[in-house]
Amino acid sequence: MEFAGRDIVSIRDFSREEIDHVLEMTDVVEPMAKKGSHTLDGKIMATLFFEPSTRTRLSFESAMYRYGGKCLGFAEPKIASVEKGENLADTVRVVESYADVLVIRHPLEGAARLAAEFASVPVINAGTGAEEHPTQAMLDLYTMRKELGKIDGLNIVLAGDLRYGRTVHSLAYALSLYDINLHLVSPPLLKMKKEVLEEVKGRIKVHELEDLSKVIPEADVIYMTRIQKERFGSLEDYEKVRGSYILTADDLSPAKPGMIVMHPLPRVDEIANSVDDTPHSKYFKQVWYGLLVRMSLIGLVLGALS
Ligand code: NCD
Repeated sequence: MEFAGRDIVSIRDFSREEIDHVLEMTDVVEPMAKKGSHTLDGKIMATLFFEPSTRTRLSFESAMYRYGGKCLGFAEPKIASVEKGENLADTVRVVESYADVLVIRHPLEGAARLAAEFASVPVINAGTGAEEHPTQAMLDLYTMRKELGKIDGLNIVLAGDLRYGRTVHSLAYALSLYDINLHLVSPPLLKMKKEVLEEVKGRIKVHELEDLSKVIPEADVIYMTRIQKERFGSLEDYEKVRGSYILTADDLSPAKPGMIVMHPLPRVDEIANSVDDTPHSKYFKQVWYGLLVRMSLIGLVLGALS
């Protein structure tokens, strides 16, 4: 299995075996994350964030620092001029002289793929438009594996904005490589993107519904998502679905004792604070797992892990 020099653009570029390898390497880097390491001394990571982000960027940067590496980059929410592919290609060809790995977040679908085509160093997609967020999918899988001991056999619920949420697109693709039951809960307006649904349905059992309370008793994982306000064509449409799901501690009373609630964060109102104090809440633990998975990926693409 060859990871050195590889781009992480879409979760669809990875086999189950490769994803499992990333998860296994994540266990290996955990002590380095805790104690710090000099493995990547002298290496530089550039974070090119053309869309606002705090946690994902900090997660990648922290991962690099804990490895002994260094970071540079920018996080500009509004750079209208980069909407032309050519400009992005030029940015990438400049920055690759400064860094050994590029991490890119961009509002346009296809941007990470384009960057990867132009860059001679590995490119990691940290979220492109409503398309994909592959490293989030890997950390979501890692969370399930750590907290539940396995992925196969689980009843997994993805709830909320399945149309515009990129994390659920990558996660649904990834989960379809495992033997699971997938429950997709959303209002009709925010149903799972067709192309994702079709591919996933070809591989695993998928059950689409609107009422979250119906699947709480059988769920092993409830993965809540934020309604992606910024991706709606009109505010009017957003108002129609705002607050569609608000999960409270009371709603969880019929849940299995070991059921876990996950969320990619940031949350708005879809998980009430009352859930935070229940044993089901794992969304803050997911943040730690995310750091570890990103260390694993950086180590693999830079050839420090194999
Ligand atoms: C997600 C994203 O950016 O897609 N957040 C993240 O990566 N931390 C989810 C979201 O913004 O709702």
